Parts: sequence; structure tokens; C-alpha cells
Amino acid sequence: MRRTEAMRRLVRETRLTPEQLILPVFVCPGEGVRRPISSMPGVANLSVDEALKEAEEAARLGLGGLLLFGLPETKDEQATGAWDANGIVQTALRALRQTAAAKSLVLIADVCLCEYTSHGHCGVIEKRGDEFRVANDPSLELLSRTAVSLAEAGADIVAPSDMMDGRVAAMRSALDAAKLEETPILSYAAKFSSAFYGPFREAADSAPQFGDRRSYQMDPANAREAMREIELDLGEGAEMILMKPGMPYLDVLRAARDRFKIPLGVYQVSGEYSMLKAAFERGWLEPERAMMESLIGLRRAGADFIVTYFAKDAARLL
Ligand code: PBG
Repeated sequence: MRRTEAMRRLVRETRLTPEQLILPVFVCPGEGVRRPISSMPGVANLSVDEALKEAEEAARLGLGGLLLFGLPETKDEQATGAWDANGIVQTALRALRQTAAAKSLVLIADVCLCEYTSHGHCGVIEKRGDEFRVANDPSLELLSRTAVSLAEAGADIVAPSDMMDGRVAAMRSALDAAKLEETPILSYAAKFSSAFYGPFREAADSAPQFGDRRSYQMDPANAREAMREIELDLGEGAEMILMKPGMPYLDVLRAARDRFKIPLGVYQVSGEYSMLKAAFERGWLEPERAMMESLIGLRRAGADFIVTYFAKDAARLL
């Protein structure tokens, strides 16, 4: 059954199509800006006008949607740029909503504070004794405000990636109170504290200024706990789940797929992309084959859709 491509195609168990791919987009201030991210060849920070061009191309290639991140003009302790009605992602969303491209793309807004806080953590910082800590409950109010503001600006889906406990419930009630009851929540329920987010922190300028994210993101050793996190978020009202990272956590993805009958996505994160790109640049891996194999592996492990920096390249091949 493997003799010819036609035969192999007939018996193929897993398929990859452009609409299963979501492209991350990093929006920055300015006009005509396309600032390459050195640790992620082929990815750039884009001003709103350039992001519109990117959306047009994504639509032309038949991608499923965009996942939007923002680089604000200024950062502060309250992450004002995250929930400001005129924040960078809100501005981009309103502009995108006016385009024809937006009709065929799902516009997903990442909800987190780390790109907008002066200290780079995903929540609010409080001093407890001599120690600075990310305070869970005080962060919920700002995260909810951010989710409402992004949905009001035109996000089809809000995707919390902060990993504070109880944020899905808080966002759900805030969205409902704002008459945004039709906006689904795609929760990064089981987000591991991963070294593979390294290049993203350059792209989004969101590296924590002190400490790390291990007090709120998950321990890479824990798969059972990931199932519990997903269960909790579904109970709080999440409609869809995003697993992350991808390749080092395929077993967790498979376990989630077998257990939960909801739309399940996976994020092939920056480090996975950069690692492959670096090997391509050195001629150590065949670019097209390695890219496609990395993506089909995520589908085979159970992902319905994939957030990936390869989205455009893969769609072109498909
Ligand atoms: C925000 C966020 C991060 C990523 C997605 N949302 C960074 C982090 O948690 O440090 C990582 C995505 C990637 O590496 O491509 N909290």
C-alpha cells in the first residue's frame, strides 16, 4: 500500500489542510513597520497597516485565522496597554474588521498581561513579606477587562494564556455582563513553563524582569495535572482548549484528545519553530519535509488545529 503516492494518499489516516492552521501576528506601533525578529527568521513585528497585508495573504492562502499579540508603546504595573480601548491589538482588530480578509479568518486575541507590564509577568505583582509575588486574584480583574476590551474591538475568540486560576470563570462572567455572550473562550488550560518560549519573548518583548513563570505555568513533568487544569477550565466555561508547547508534549496532547470531546488546538511555539529554522539554515534538515512532518505529528497526536509560525509556508505547499 506504500508503492505509489496515489496509494499512500488513499490510505492516509491524518490530513492537514490550510484552514487548520492559525498564524500568530505581533502588532507594533508605527506605519510601514516590518521589523524582523532575529531569533525567528521569517517572522516580524508588524505595524497595523502591515498586519492588514498579512491578513490578506493569510486569507488568500486559506488559513483558519490569526492569533494576535501586541507590543504596546509603553508598559506599566497595571498593564494599561492590554485593556485600553485604544491599545495596539484593539486598534489592529478594529482595522482588521473592516477588511474582506476578516470574513474568512477567525481573529483570535491572546489575553495576557506580560507584554504590557513593566515587570514582564503575566499577572499583577504584590509584595508579601520580603518577596515579590504574582498575585492570582488581583490579576483576574485586569485580565477580564482585557478580554472584554478585545472582544469589543472585534476579536472572534479570546484566548487567555496567563495561567492564573479562575480566569476563565472571571472572563466568562465579564464577557456575559458586557453582552458579549457569543464570544467563545479558547483557554490555554495546560500551558507548561517551557524554555521553548524563549524566542517569543524577544518577539513580544515580554521576558520577566525578575524570577520566572514557574509559580503559575505548569511543571513540564506533570501530565495528570494537565488533565485537571483542562477539566477545571471546561467547568468554568471554556469552549475550546489550546495545548502548548507541541512537540515535547505530544503525549499530553494525545491524553487530552482521548479524554475531552471539545475542539482542541496545539501551539507549535517559537522555540520549536526557531530550532527547525536553525537546522534548515545549516542544511541539517530538509525544510519542507521536516516542517510538514512536525505539523502532521501534531495532528496525529490529536490536535484539531495548530497555531504555527509555519502557517503560511505550510499552506503554500498544501
Ligand atoms: C503570553 C504568551 C507566551 C506565549 C504565548 N502567549 C509567552 C510566555 O508565556 O512566556 C509563547 C508563544 C511562543 O513561544 O511562540 N503569556
